[in-house]
Amino acid sequence: MFKQFDKLYGIDLGTSNTVIFEKGKGIVLNEPSVVAFNLQTGELLAAGTEAQAMIGRAPAHVEITYPLINGVIANFDKTSIMLKYFIKKIQGRSSFLRSSQIYITVPCGITNVQKRAIEETIVHKGAKKAIAVEEPLAAALGAGLMLEEPIGHLVLDIGGGTCQVAVLSLGGIVASHTINQGGLSIDRDIMDYVKRQYNLEIGERTAEQIKMEIGTASTSTEERTLDIRGRDLVDGLPRSIRLVSSEIYTVVNEFLGSLIEAIRATLELCPPELAGDVMEQGILLCGGGALLEGIDERIRAETGVAVHIADQPLICTALGTGQMLGVYKSKSRPLTHEREPEEKIAVSQ
Ligand SMILES: Nc1ncnc2c1ncn2[C@@H]1O[C@H](COP(=O)(O)OP(=O)(O)OP(=O)(O)O)[C@@H](O)[C@H]1O
Ligand SMILES: [Mg+2]
Repeated sequence: MFKQFDKLYGIDLGTSNTVIFEKGKGIVLNEPSVVAFNLQTGELLAAGTEAQAMIGRAPAHVEITYPLINGVIANFDKTSIMLKYFIKKIQGRSSFLRSSQIYITVPCGITNVQKRAIEETIVHKGAKKAIAVEEPLAAALGAGLMLEEPIGHLVLDIGGGTCQVAVLSLGGIVASHTINQGGLSIDRDIMDYVKRQYNLEIGERTAEQIKMEIGTASTSTEERTLDIRGRDLVDGLPRSIRLVSSEIYTVVNEFLGSLIEAIRATLELCPPELAGDVMEQGILLCGGGALLEGIDERIRAETGVAVHIADQPLICTALGTGQMLGVYKSKSRPLTHEREPEEKIAVSQ
């Protein structure tokens, strides 16, 4: 069935990271979704890790951007240039997507028209076939859930640009809720906090480092400290401060409130039988935000439902697309169950 394709790729195209699975090889690429262009020549300077390293350090003629915002492609040209760069890096040649079949993730709640636009862009770039799959479905598969069973599962994917809550049953999404907040909005909140509290300007990378090293969703963990450097807003000179984890807890708290509200709203929309299943099965947590210290315990305390963190939260979505590559029959859509958006109970904020 797959002989017609030279290559089979599953791509988790995320706001923060792009992870690519190649059939027969496994995960072949895991890099930040960032591109750097020379504004004077229009030339691509770097993408992925190399481009990310330039953030906050580039001269004025270099523009560094994330081509996706809140999980959706904000700039189609830059996104396809970035994907082309990544595929070339994997293949070692520039034939890009020719003769390949691609499974690519999209946030849940987007319309079929938006899905088609993404599929058509990929086919236009040379792929033989492209299929858009909703992220929580792929994440759940990659984390090992048996999706075809008539049992409800709740997946919470905390990514860089979105948090997606989805109740899945019989291989489809029954209810979902997406909020346009995630790891990147926490980073921005940390930058704002440090500016307000200490008159100190810090960069995005420093804010992310603070979140990863001393960020917490729990009040009961041991206090940790981190020394960071930024630019004093009054005299413009570099200055160091020491931050403690309890400060970062207060910054993260507001985001956690919205997240828990989204879980409650999804459970309210969900038929009672499935809500009962979720109480029994627990919540599956994935995406990079699942690594925030104490987040599982906090969600359990606020919702009363057990929480399990996926084994590899940052790559389970790509692993799930990889599993789809092996089961998909070329004429039907995989596991996404072609319902029109109005048939789904989906809410977006
Ligand atoms: N240890 C950690 N603690 C807290 N946050 C983390 C940790 N590790 C990674 N993250 C955050 O996870 C986010 C990236 O997660 P992920 O790769 O799942 O997002 P994405 O799939 O690119 O985004 P989206 O699904 O929203 O489009 C980043 O904001 C990153 O800072
Ligand atoms: Mg994601």
